[in-house]
Amino acid sequence: MVTVAFTDADGAEVQCEAEEGVSLLEVGQAAGMPLEGTCEGQMACSTCHVIVAKGWFDRLPEASDEEEDMLDLAFGVERTSRLSCQIDVTAELDGLAVRIPSESRDMSG
Ligand code: FES
Repeated sequence: MVTVAFTDADGAEVQCEAEEGVSLLEVGQAAGMPLEGTCEGQMACSTCHVIVAKGWFDRLPEASDEEEDMLDLAFGVERTSRLSCQIDVTAELDGLAVRIPSESRDMSG
């Protein structure tokens, strides 16, 4: 199992155990994070946007052009923003830390 830490919009950290091969989006949803993932990984929504901890960003496989384009439309984007549906959990990501953008709450109303 791989351990991933999510920090929610209120600053509370939740540690999750994840199986290798699932997407980070699925891990976050299982942990109760407010990640809608409306398009289920089709890179058509950006509601799965997370901000990756700085030390981890460079260790992730690079985002595709499609992902970059979709991130341009997301709210609260930062330099280390990613779409969580595009990140597959692997053993190398043990200890990965990501944050839920607080702006996403305003959008969901
Ligand atoms: S779930 Fe829609 S872009 Fe990730």
